[in-house]
Amino acid sequence: MNILVTGGAGYIGSHTVIELINNGHDVIIIDNLSNSCKEAVTRAERIIGEALTFYEKDIRDKQALEKVFSKHQIDGVIHFAGLKAVGESVKMPLKYYNNNLISTISLLEVMESHNVKQLVFSSSATVYGDPASVPIKESATLPAKVTNPYGQTKLVIETMLMDLAITNNNWQITALRYFNPIGAHESGTIGEDPSDIPNNLMPYVSQVAIGKLKELSVFGSDYPTRDGTGVRDYIHVTDLAKAHVAALSTPASLNEYRAINVGTGKGTSVLELISAFEQASGVKVPYKITGRRRPGDIAACYADPSLAHSILGWRAQKTIEDACADSWRWQSANPNGYRG
Ligand code: NAD
Ligand code: WQD
Repeated sequence: MNILVTGGAGYIGSHTVIELINNGHDVIIIDNLSNSCKEAVTRAERIIGEALTFYEKDIRDKQALEKVFSKHQIDGVIHFAGLKAVGESVKMPLKYYNNNLISTISLLEVMESHNVKQLVFSSSATVYGDPASVPIKESATLPAKVTNPYGQTKLVIETMLMDLAITNNNWQITALRYFNPIGAHESGTIGEDPSDIPNNLMPYVSQVAIGKLKELSVFGSDYPTRDGTGVRDYIHVTDLAKAHVAALSTPASLNEYRAINVGTGKGTSVLELISAFEQASGVKVPYKITGRRRPGDIAACYADPSLAHSILGWRAQKTIEDACADSWRWQSANPNGYRG
């Protein structure tokens, strides 16, 4: 199939492009490079041994999208493009609503006008808010509002996609709800490359390990979890990438909207992740436990991934140890990410 990948230069997009090519698909990437570098695409080309079709365009620009859809016969779209920094979204909500919503609407309109109806959308476990229980099933009631504008854009987009599916206009829509993606390609040549001080745990840990940051602050130690620190479902980015390939090869039915968790089903605490990283890298990660919780954080969040297995035949293969080893291979070979 010819797959259009929005945000394909980004962290998850670049790994997914590789898995798509490995599975015989052709890929067209659109990315405005607002949170990524062209170098990620160049390196993906090196891994797969072929050139990729890449457009540096903002997908809010409908004319630019029209040109791409007119030039290529597109069979399906994986829509990664979006802004994702939770803290920034609280400070600049309009930037997030503008980018994430307008880009999605413009993409859907152009898809509709070109009769391209198969979509896989990057959603997030953030749509569950503070879950009533874990592991989280897709049938959990979604809150009317989540705690930050970033998460709210995912909830609004999911609602919009559900409305689109019931138009009976032959849309086939899959929203993959990612838990916490970590790790890097096993080659160590592509990986997560935050442009600023990382907000997320794994890139922070690896930048402490490489000596770019002094120490990690563990946010909160009095959660009702086994060691008092937050528990999350860390999913290797290559496993996550493969879930997209599975979603395309087992597509939603006509007029179907389906939401599917992509996680391992296993919760790991902050302290357990630090320890796994230290073992995988052989490097000590200095940290201090702060009594202060990060606003908006929840105690535990992990998936019931059984639907992904029954519908897509997909299951996570890699362990936390694999993810830590791969993150470290990427970080130590590229201390400054793609910027040399
Ligand atoms: P990323 O920032 O690395 O990738 C997103 C890409 O989209 C970037 O390359 C960016 O330049 C591009 N982009 C943003 N706005 C655009 C626009 N208007 N036009 C064209 N390109 C645009 O992020 P990621 O971690 O790879 O995340 C991919 C998707 O998965 C996002 O939608 C994100 O919200 C979602 N998601 C990520 C996580 C996570 O923890 N990484 C978890 C759940 C969901
Ligand atoms: C994990 C754990 C922190 C940093 C976020 C988004 C979510 C999704 C994935 C996009 C928590 C603790 C963290 C640090 C720490 N993204 N921590 N010190 O918050 O589960 O999810 O990324 O959709 O929407 O909210 O991930 O990696 O930030 O935090 O102690 O310096 O690590 O408190 O328990 P989170 P995270």
